Amino acid sequence: MTPDERIQQLRREINYHLYRYHVLDSPVISDAEYDALYRALAALEAEHPELVTPESPTQRAGAAAADIFAKVRHPAPILSLMNAFNADDLRAWRARIGRLLPADTHLEYVVEPKLDGLTVVLHYRDGRFAQGATRGDGEVGEDVTANLRTLHGVPKRIPVDPRQSLRPPDYLVVRGEVFLPLDKFEALNAERLAAGEPLYMNPRNTAAGSLRQLDPAKTAERPLRLYCYDIVAIEGGELPRRQWDRLAYLRDLGFPVSPDNTYCRSLDEVVAAYEQWIERRDHINYEVDGAVVKVDDRLLAEELGYAGKDPRGALAMKFPAREKTTRLLALQVNVGRTGVLAPNAVLEPVEIGGTTVRAATLHNFDEIARKDIRIGDRVLVKRAGDVIPYVVGPIVDARDGREQPIAPPETCPACGQPVVQLPDEIAFYCENAACPAQLIRRVEYFVSRGAMDIDGFGTQTSALLFERGLIHDVADIYTLRREDLLELEGFGDKKADRLLAGIEASKERPVDRLLTALGIRFVGGVVAEILVKNLGSLDALAAAGAATLEEIAGVGPRTAASVAAWFTNAGNRELIAKLRAAGLRIAAEREATPQASESLAGKVFVITGTLPGLTRDEATALIEAHGGKVTGSVSKKTNYVVAGEAAGSKLDRARELGVPVLDAAGLRAMVGE
Ligand code: IVH
Repeated sequence: MTPDERIQQLRREINYHLYRYHVLDSPVISDAEYDALYRALAALEAEHPELVTPESPTQRAGAAAADIFAKVRHPAPILSLMNAFNADDLRAWRARIGRLLPADTHLEYVVEPKLDGLTVVLHYRDGRFAQGATRGDGEVGEDVTANLRTLHGVPKRIPVDPRQSLRPPDYLVVRGEVFLPLDKFEALNAERLAAGEPLYMNPRNTAAGSLRQLDPAKTAERPLRLYCYDIVAIEGGELPRRQWDRLAYLRDLGFPVSPDNTYCRSLDEVVAAYEQWIERRDHINYEVDGAVVKVDDRLLAEELGYAGKDPRGALAMKFPAREKTTRLLALQVNVGRTGVLAPNAVLEPVEIGGTTVRAATLHNFDEIARKDIRIGDRVLVKRAGDVIPYVVGPIVDARDGREQPIAPPETCPACGQPVVQLPDEIAFYCENAACPAQLIRRVEYFVSRGAMDIDGFGTQTSALLFERGLIHDVADIYTLRREDLLELEGFGDKKADRLLAGIEASKERPVDRLLTALGIRFVGGVVAEILVKNLGSLDALAAAGAATLEEIAGVGPRTAASVAAWFTNAGNRELIAKLRAAGLRIAAEREATPQASESLAGKVFVITGTLPGLTRDEATALIEAHGGKVTGSVSKKTNYVVAGEAAGSKLDRARELGVPVLDAAGLRAMVGE
């Protein structure tokens, strides 16, 4: 292929993707892939300047406006920015513009979040909102005035605050970015899911689609937001020279301006701000795909002129990509410790944000069906922050007909037993308690950080121990001998000793950690702590029953049922017995309350609800200190029920059986406190 042919081909491709992105709001490649195509074209054109034509996408911004809206010619070109991808690119930019400036010119900068939304251009005449347009191709946009009017963020009159003594300019054109907050995007998709409608891929396209509606009522339903960052034209008013002051001016007039814009006195400060943004982007409620660096002195910036269509005085520093497209090669179903079958996508390896991604979660089979994800599909994969990479959805337009639909398996891929779907649940389960995959996962979970935190237990150790038949459940960990470990692949003296020491140390973990480690459904660290605090020991927990558990604040019916069912299971009771025998802590370390009296000897108490000024632990300790006994459920043998706020069925039961009921004060009085 000659350079000319390659350039033609790249332009065709880029134009197609611009059209998908800007006109159809339905891109088929990720932003990063688009950037790569664009860079390839720009590089080729730089090598062959004679081949550059005004029609090249490098010479224009965006794509032509769609036909359904009236056209609006912008008062000045609505330009785009040159992209940079790291601090080196930034310094190279500074060096380039430095050569165009008098030697030793000191520059200061404004760094703004680059909101991943769509540009709007807002016209004000005599302080009234007169017209609003999309960017279109940068020269001509689409008239979406009626739709923009429905946005709360678009001032209808300026200044918005009548106490501001500012006189509005005769004519003012402001540029901003419309976007959809992430939580709103998720809520919208949740609604669409409930209504059985296809889901949106990402907030940007949803925002664009919401704004480019023929019916403004549709736009009004969407919680779109706006941040403004530039003045495109002004008549009958003073244009501040500095970007920082322009932002302040816009804010004073009542335009929403990002509170996250920062002023940087040096390039180092810009780099720091950029790096902070990479961290922050995962913790804010809207998508930011980069930081925009602007020379604060806009007069100087303008003197720098343009490189192609891009102004030299500003730079878009993109963040590492978090989304890429790749091919879904196969489905792999993993069995979790609770028996849940987790569908995973085996992907054609793709580099996302510095890591090679080979697999991604497909969440569950319901989601696969809803999104109609098929094997062989080109899929959009996202990897953001700490979340596991996941498949956002298929690119339906890239299909060639050979893609295979995905069905939930009928049997467990690990043990071959039939798979079940529980009522009211989306997930499919393997219910075979002896399923080897589940056992391995349970051990992995048991030894993990938030659970028993056993040092020296590598990722492969659990599977290895199972294969060798050295363990059959988590309690067997405590019977492992040095000579057993030395037989394992990769285990030498040092490694074996470290693991044995880790196992020994884990025996001292408090009982709530052990409870967490057991991996009972719905019992994570927080719930385990609550349960232990209220009941004190695994024995008490085993005796409690669902009704008792449900009365504990912070324990819902689902959790209560799950815990009760777990402790009813004979195998699980045996497991607890083994763990007890191994010397683990089965009860909370209670501060030994000195035996105060025997006044309550032989008396059986049940505590229910929240006692004012007394935790359940303290109440139990108090009763026990006076020789009484506390049990979980009310029966004819119960002597007293101590009831606090929000007492439930136990109080009813006490009344039914005629068991005397005390409050906290009553209990105190009884023991002479
Ligand atoms: S300045 C000449 N500032 O990112 C002025 N753009 O490639 C160019 N964007 O098309 C725009 N936040 O849609 C600017 N604070 C910000 C921005 C921002 C988002 C978008 C805008 C533009 C693209 C830059």
